[in-house]
Formats: sequence, structure tokens, C-alpha cells
Amino acid sequence: MTHYEYDVVIVGAGGAGMRAALESSQRSKTAVLTKLYPTRSHTGAAQGGMAAALSNVEDDNYEWHVYDTVKGGDYLVDQDAAEIMCREAIDAVLDLEKMGLPFNRTEDGKIDQRRFGGHTREHGAAPVRRACYAADRTGHMILQTLYQQCVKQKVEFFNEFYVLDLILSKNPQSAKKGAKVSVTGVVALELATGEIHTFSAKSVVFATGGAGKVFKTTSNAHTLTGDGMAIALRAGLPLQDMEFFQFHPTGLYGLGILLSEAARGEGGILRNSEGERFMERYAPSIKDLAPRDVVARAIAREVREGRGCGPKKDYVLLDLTHLSPEHIDEKLPDITEFARTYLGVEPHTEGVPTYPTAHYAMGGIPTTVNGEVLRNATETVDGLYAAGECACVSVHGANRLGTNSLLDINVFGRRAGAAAAAHAAKAPQPSMPAHAAARVVGIVERLLAGTGDASSPRPGDIRSELQEAMDRDAQVFRTAESLTHVQAKVPGLKERFARATIQDKGRRFNTDLLEAIELGFLLDLAEVILAGALAREESRGGHFREDFPTRDDKKFLKHTLAYATPTGVTLDYKPVVITKYVPKERVY
Ligand code: FUM
Repeated sequence: MTHYEYDVVIVGAGGAGMRAALESSQRSKTAVLTKLYPTRSHTGAAQGGMAAALSNVEDDNYEWHVYDTVKGGDYLVDQDAAEIMCREAIDAVLDLEKMGLPFNRTEDGKIDQRRFGGHTREHGAAPVRRACYAADRTGHMILQTLYQQCVKQKVEFFNEFYVLDLILSKNPQSAKKGAKVSVTGVVALELATGEIHTFSAKSVVFATGGAGKVFKTTSNAHTLTGDGMAIALRAGLPLQDMEFFQFHPTGLYGLGILLSEAARGEGGILRNSEGERFMERYAPSIKDLAPRDVVARAIAREVREGRGCGPKKDYVLLDLTHLSPEHIDEKLPDITEFARTYLGVEPHTEGVPTYPTAHYAMGGIPTTVNGEVLRNATETVDGLYAAGECACVSVHGANRLGTNSLLDINVFGRRAGAAAAAHAAKAPQPSMPAHAAARVVGIVERLLAGTGDASSPRPGDIRSELQEAMDRDAQVFRTAESLTHVQAKVPGLKERFARATIQDKGRRFNTDLLEAIELGFLLDLAEVILAGALAREESRGGHFREDFPTRDDKKFLKHTLAYATPTGVTLDYKPVVITKYVPKERVY
């Protein structure tokens, strides 16, 4: 075991982590720990664009972007945070341009912009071209650009160091109101050797990404197992609004791979088995460019009501055939290739089978607009920060608008990195307690110790059962009955997980061990998602309760805070910040 000391430790090397690192490493000794190689981070899978009201191709205004974000989030957005995000979006894009990001260009050389769901001009008057993009590889380009800058700036990376624990000065749940709780550091498993290391840090930034693997059908990579969220939860911190999960309308049928909303931004149309452009019925003014929750529910409803396509009538078609092949090839090269490769469908001449896929966690570790992590509704943890999908600022409320996540990671990654460095400049180096690694050693050794014989429960089986149950009972449509059904399953899965062992007993690059640890995180997060979803007896954004089909602002215009306690998940609530936009009916 090696002990390291840094001013700032950043956990995660996706867009948020690397943007934070670019800020903090200019001013403080910074380490970035990542369970992957940085350029394999999931930011690289983001496709369609990054929103900013540049007005490069159409008149736009950052205030309209704020309005769209608040309305798109079904009024659960903290409006002060949305205002910051949309205002700083313009500099965030220009920063990336200066770093060399190869954006698509207009004929006169400006950054080109395209349409995306829910982004409008003049408060909903018409769709607006606000998404800055690099074909359908915008996330890939952002990740590569940020990594190049980090290399240039000599940021210190610890690749394939899997952080498994967060050490705080005291348990936030037992700390009295007003008491100082501060960060001490993290504990990580080095995947190449199986060794466990401790990192003391004056500031820690969590930027560990999402948790899509709670579901079976997801656009998320295998690695998106909510590690940072679950580690925070286990350390006694709350998670905010976890019941709000986004189902992206156009996952590649049967696989869940993302087919960017840019396809509809470029003119693509969704059709049912009757060839009908059904979004005209659900969102008469902006149709296929309605926000994701609206479109995902419309697709699920078409299928439910027997208007799905294919032999099982269980998908709809994304139709691009009216667009010129040259336009498709120039603007949507990757996703059209996915359709050819995985489904054998030619998008130039055929509709592409699609169905909603679990895509994005609107909830996460609650933070202030500077990334400071909250330990309850009002108090922060000294020196602890979070940014990106693992965090909840909250700028996405109950439903994120497409292209606001690449924006979020850049704006709040930068802010968290700057705040972490500023804190480190005045904080003393914390000393790691002698037994800091005990919890991680316990987890690893228990999994390695078992016999791994046929009688022990297999993590792979438990994971599949969890994911299938979540897909069936907690997806686009939910009821108390469906949620209770899956909720009742989780204790049994956890009990089996406590007895599960793995077959590979090696220490080096033990992916069996890695996946078992990840499963533990997924089980904890499923409990939180379900508890929040059952308690929220209303429908808002991505959380649609068929037994409570309308939004209930009287009872539920509030953020959920979920805590893990020895007796299970307990819930608390905190108010939504409303500055300008009074909640009203959300129609498109
Ligand atoms: O559809 C997409 O390209 C996804 C973008 C996003 O999630 O922001």
C-alpha cells in the first residue's frame, strides 16, 4: 500500500474531471484518479452537441436558454444555477474552440449550430439552432481536446486507479448541525496490481459520471455504475432527486445504443407502424423536437397502443430517408454507421428501429453552484466537490434538455476545479487515519475469499435480475404497484450479493472483482431511485406515475434528499430555487 499526498484529487477523467483538472492544476498539486484510461471515459459517447446561445446562425439569447432549461426540467431546476450555466455557456464553447476543438463551421467560418429538443427562441415561439457540434461526435472531440490540454499542462493522471472509498473527518449523519465536516481523502484499488492505496487531499472533486447500468437497456457504457454517487451515499451523504432518470427516446432497438437527437435536429422524423408522424399529436408546436421525456413517453405509448413496428410491434422508426444522403453522411456519420453495423439497416433508404433507452441521471450528489457538496439541505462538506453527471446542481431538474450535459460538465467542471484549488490554497494537509483502507480491504478480501463454486450466487446473475426488474418496473411508466414490485426484489438481491463470490482469484486486472464491486454500487443506487420514485406521488419530467399522472406543485415542488441509514433509505426534501419563472403548465 502506498500513501500519496496532494492538494487536490479529482476522481474521474471524463469531461467534468478533466475540465476541473485544467483549472486546479494551474494553481495546486493535482492528481486525477480514473478507473479507465481518460480517453475511454463516457463523455466520448456524447454525440449531438453542446448548447450555447451564440446567435451564430439564428438570433438567440441566453435568457431564452434559461427559460427552456427551466421549462424542460419541469420547473424542478434551481433557476439561479440554470442562469449561471446558460450565461457561462458562451465562454465555455469559446474556451473549447481556443483549445482547438474542431467544431463544424458555417460557410462564413463561425461555429455552426443545430436544433435540439426543447431549445427554442422567444420562450417557445419556435425551435432555435443552439447546439454547437462536431458532426455526431461532439463528446468524443471534447474529451480528446481536454485530454490534449491536460497532457500539455502536465496534469498527473493515475490511470486505472479505481476509487472505492471517500474518507471524511466525521460521519455527516452523526455530526451536529453547524459542526465542521471536512474531506480527508480517498482510497483506491490499482487495477493493474490489485494494490490498495490511500490519497490524502485538501480538496477532492468527484466527477465519476452516471449510473445507467442500473437498467438493462441503456446508452451508457459498461463502466457507468454510479460509483461516485454510491461512495458518497455510503459515506453518509445524501443523494438528490435520484428518481428522475432520463430515457433517451431513440436508443437503437434491442441494444439501447444512442442514436443522437441530432438526427431529429437535422430533420429526422419519428413514425409509427401506420407511417404516421405521431409527434404531431403529442407536441403540436415542436413535434419531434419536443423534450426527451415527452418524446420517450410518446414512443412507449404508441407501442403500448399497438402502433409499434416490426414483428413484435415493439419499436418505432426514425426516418431520415427524406434527407439527402450527402447531408446524412456529413452530419450524422457515426449513428448511421451504428444502424448499418448493428441492425443491418440502411438509413439512406430505410427507417431505423428505435425505442427509449436509459440515458442520464438528473439526480446525483447535491452541490452548490461552485460544486461544493452538501451534507444536508443547507450545509456543505469542507473541501469536497462534485461535478458532471454524478452531481446534482440542479440545472436539469426533472428532465435534462439534450446538449445541456456537455455544457454542464464544462461550466461546472471548471467551477468545481477552481473552487477546489482555492480551498486547497488555505487548507492544511489532512492526515489519513491509520485504518482508512479497512472498508475497501474488507470488500475486496470478502469477494476474493469465497470458493467461487457453483453453489455461490454469481454477481452476473444478480446484476441481470436487477437490470431486468428495473427495465420492467421503473422505466418510462411507473406505478406504486410496479415500483413496489421491484423494490421488494432488492433486499433478496442484496442478501445474495453478500454471499456472492467470484471465480477469478487473481489480483492483477481482475475484472471479475471490478464488476462485483460495481454491482454493490448499483444495488445501493437502485434502492435510492425506488424509494424516491415511490414517495413522489406525482408525474414530473422523466418520472411518470400512471397512478398520479399530473404534476403536483403543492406537494412536490421540492428536491428529494435520500440518505442510506442502517434501517434503509430515509428521505428528506429541500426547496427549489425559483427566481424568474413561476411554474406553469408545460405544453409544447
Ligand atoms: O442525442 C444526443 O446526441 C445526446 C445528447 C445529450 O445527451 O445531451
